[in-house]
Order: sequence, then structure tokens, then C-alpha cells
Amino acid sequence: MTAIMEANAGGASGKLDYDPLNPDVKHEPYPYYVELRRNEPVKWLPGLQAYGVARYDDIDALLKDGRTFSSGQFWPALLGEYDPVPEEAPMISMDPPGHMQLRRIANKAFVPSKVNGLRDRTYEIANLLVDDIIAKHGPEGEFDFAWEFTALYPVTVVAEVLGVPTERRAEFKVWVDDVLSAANRAAYGPEKLAHIAASTKKMRDFFEDLYDERVKNLGDDLISTFITTEVDGQKLTRNQVLSMAILLLIGGVETTTNLLGTTLIELNRHRDVFDRVLADHSLIPAVLEEVLRYNPPVQIIFRHTTIDTEIAGVKIPAGSAIMPILASANRDESKFDNPEVFDIDRKIEVPLMSFGQGPHFCLGNYLSRMEAKSALEVIFSRFSLIEPVSDEVHWLDSYFARGPHVLPVRYRVR
Ligand code: HEM
Repeated sequence: MTAIMEANAGGASGKLDYDPLNPDVKHEPYPYYVELRRNEPVKWLPGLQAYGVARYDDIDALLKDGRTFSSGQFWPALLGEYDPVPEEAPMISMDPPGHMQLRRIANKAFVPSKVNGLRDRTYEIANLLVDDIIAKHGPEGEFDFAWEFTALYPVTVVAEVLGVPTERRAEFKVWVDDVLSAANRAAYGPEKLAHIAASTKKMRDFFEDLYDERVKNLGDDLISTFITTEVDGQKLTRNQVLSMAILLLIGGVETTTNLLGTTLIELNRHRDVFDRVLADHSLIPAVLEEVLRYNPPVQIIFRHTTIDTEIAGVKIPAGSAIMPILASANRDESKFDNPEVFDIDRKIEVPLMSFGQGPHFCLGNYLSRMEAKSALEVIFSRFSLIEPVSDEVHWLDSYFARGPHVLPVRYRVR
């Protein structure tokens, strides 16, 4: 740790007060996480009326104990009244036994053998997007990596998995962004809230139409699979299918988009690693793993307590909101050597917390790693130069999702 970080972390010049809603914290939360792990591993956060939890072992234990730490409030906490299918909780917001039944169905689409079948298509999609960029901006110049590549790529992959028309991917992306921005609804005025409500409705209307169309013309896409599959002799209801499709869209788009954007930022910040990976693309998976550890797309998730309990000696009453800070667990000094150092050669001895742990462990973890690897291979093969035009980063205005809001890059084709 540098002397500045040491001081920031409360070592020399007093304490940093972690408040996830503070713009400084949203911009650079990591020094605050150091302070939390060291001095206040369970902290009451008045602005969010929740307990933040910062250490790896505490987070690991609570995520594996779904009886005490329920997921039931995840979606309501995240989206509030902007949930596109409020009648039916998606599986990320369910507890056993209902959660397991839905997960068994969805899991079929995400096993490695299925995902590997998409690999060639991911290369094609990434190449088509690069073709579009070159057609629009020429053989060299500048473009916005966040909006013109990373935003469009995962939404196209997920749209294909679900079996929805890819022509509408740009609209999809806007809806997903708007619906997810409901996490910050407390800070928004009526105009922005009306805009979010409109996107919520459009997303729902779109999937209702798609459901009705698919019921009449079943295909080999995932929505058709959801429509036909039976759980314990019962088919999923229309709302269950809508809720599942929308969860996959929301879960699968912004996360991988942000992983790709943050990867380019971290490579730019660590030029020695950038040079190595440009010369040797087989290092891409190691780079992605280190970005997932060091600066992960999902910083925080949500639980609530079903009984009175205790974490790290702090008594927590039943019915409390809990926010496990996954990004802090990934830098826990007791699990990772020199955790504040970006090191693609590190030996990782414990699972990263980036995709969660326990029964809700991310269904898309294998898909997103595969997608991101294909995308970077294409980007580094097609461009001889691609780097952010500035070292200044405009991070998303979110304590929950981490990634660049915009990322202007200069580029040259090979
Ligand atoms: C880098 C990319 C991704 C990250 C960092 C990420 C992160 C996460 C995390 C932290 C959870 C756990 C939530 C909890 O425990 O409450 C989760 C769950 C989930 N993710 Fe992802 N995710 C990514 C990509 C994807 C993709 C590509 C998809 C699908 C297309 C997806 C679908 C899901 C689903 C369906 C769940 C809920 C699983 C359950 O409740 O059993 N994710 N993800």
C-alpha cells in the first residue's frame, strides 16, 4: 500500500467515513473498503438503512446461509416500483425451495457445453461491431468504446440466447440502463423517474408480445424452452417466463459491458501488462480474472435477515437490510497477497467473490468469461492501437454497478 493510501485508509490522518451514496466514494471506493475491513467490518449505513459487510469470510458465510440472510428483498431493494414484473419475483430474489426449481430450468441454458456452442457466434458478433466502427469512423481516429462496443456486444449475445430480434439491441440496452438506474431512484426528480417508468413498461410490453408470439411458434430459443419446460409436473406461468427473461437480460448485459470497459481502463493504467497481453493474447483470461478481482462489475449485492443474528460480533435484528460488499472481499488481506496490487500473475487460492457465492452464484459466470475473452481477442487482433484518450475515468453514477459511463478511445486498424 502506498503512503497516500495508508493515510486515506485511516492509518495516519484519521478515518475515512464510508457512505456509498457519496460521489467521492462512488468514484474511488477502494480506500474506504480498506478502512472498513480494518476497523469497521460491519457498518450501519444510514443513507441506505442497511448494514454494509466488508470482510471475505463474513460475506462468504452469509451468502451460503440463505435461511438467515434471505434474497427475498433483492429485487424490491434494487428496483422498487420500477420492477417490470412485480407480480412474480425473479429467481435472484427468491429463497428455497422455489429458487432451486427455477434455477434447475435456467441452468440448462448455461452449462459449459451449451455456452461453448455460442463461442463462434461471439467472435462473429464482435467482428461485426468492429466492422461497424470502422465503417463509421474510418481506419483510425476515436470512438466511444463504452457505447459503440461494450454496450452493444453482450446485449446482442444475450438477445440471441433468449431468441429476441437483435435489430432491437440498442433499444434493449437503453431499457436495461434505465431500469437498473432505478437503484438510485431516491436521488432522482420526477422527469427522470417518469423516463424510468416508461422504459420499464416498454420492456414488459416487448416481452409480453414476444411470449404471445412464441407460444404460437415455438423455436429452439430459451424463451421457448421456458414456455415448454415443466417443473414438478407444472409449466411456468406467463409471468414466470417474463420475469426469467427480464432477469437474464438485466443480469447479462450491464455486467459484461462493464467488465470489458473496466478491463481497458486497467490495462491503460498498467501499461506493462497491456504490452504483454498485446504481444500474447493467451494472457487474456488471466487479465480478465484479475480485473474481476480488482475492480469487479458488481460491487455490492442485497440480503435481509430473517432472524436476529450477529456478524463479526455486531448484533443485527431480524428484518435488517444487509449489503455484502463483494468488491471489498476481493481485496481482503487475509485471502489475497498484496491485494491492492493489480497482478495478473498472482496465484488465486480462494474463489473470487465477483459472481457471489452459495445458492445464487451467478448463472452467467462461464458465459461472461467466454464472451469477454472472445471480444478482447477480436479487439486486439483487429486494432494495432486502442487506448483511452484520457487517464480520467467517468465511472457510472452507482454504488452497485462499476464500469465506465463513457470511454473515448483512439484506435488504428491493423
Ligand atoms: C462479469 C459479468 C457478471 C457478473 C460480475 C455477475 C455477477 C453476479 C452476481 C454477483 C450474482 C449473485 C447475486 C446474488 O447472490 O444475490 C449474479 C447472479 C446471477 N447472474 Fe450474473 N453476473 C455476470 C454476468 C451474467 C450473465 C452474462 C448472465 C446471463 C446471461 C447472468 C445471470 C445471472 C443470474 C440469472 C443470476 C441469479 C442466479 C440465482 O439467483 O440463482 N450474469 N451475477
